[in-house]
Amino acid sequence: MKGTIHYCLEATIKENYGDSAWAKCQQAVGLKKSHSFGQQILQDINEEDSIKLFQLSAETLNIDLKTLFDQFGDYWCLTYAPKMYPQFFEKAQSTKDMLVGLDHIHQVVIGKKPGAKPPRFTYEWQKDGRLLMTYKSERGLFELFESLLRGLDKRFDSETSIERVGNNSLLLGFQ
Ligand code: HEM
Repeated sequence: MKGTIHYCLEATIKENYGDSAWAKCQQAVGLKKSHSFGQQILQDINEEDSIKLFQLSAETLNIDLKTLFDQFGDYWCLTYAPKMYPQFFEKAQSTKDMLVGLDHIHQVVIGKKPGAKPPRFTYEWQKDGRLLMTYKSERGLFELFESLLRGLDKRFDSETSIERVGNNSLLLGFQ
């Protein structure tokens, strides 16, 4: 997985828990104190190590993985991605706008980078106006998808109603 995710996680933890907490997470995963994912944004980082970084960080911080996903989702959508990838936020005015372009963002823009294996999203509009959005990725980070979606709501001041359908889909209602 691209190091941009790891760097955002590093920044999320520093922002929420301080530099010394991040140092403990680094130690837990066997990274040197001098290491920063800031130098590896475009690099591919081993999949197993990537998932472990989330899991061991949550354990080290003594929080649920879901809580860490939520904090990551907020930091990604409110601070990190608008600064790193402003082009994707300029045209969007709501969570709905961002979500309908999400598969395009990941496939066309990120998918072109060598080694990238971005998640896919499919869209099925329902008769009642809701959107059934399905997440497809071998990484199984469906929970992270939901956390990022909640981050979008904060960013755009939207209130999306979210109903889980099975293990990979969300039925979404927009205002
Ligand atoms: C400007 C906006 C965004 C950009 C530039 C972006 C970019 C990326 C990149 C580079 C990756 C790593 C892919 C790889 O290494 O193969 C990734 C992963 C991911 N993104 Fe995004 N992303 C954005 C917004 C979002 C949002 C808003 C959501 C959900 C609502 C989302 C859901 C995910 C998930 C769940 C993953 C984890 C990888 C997986 O499950 O396979 N992204 N994204």
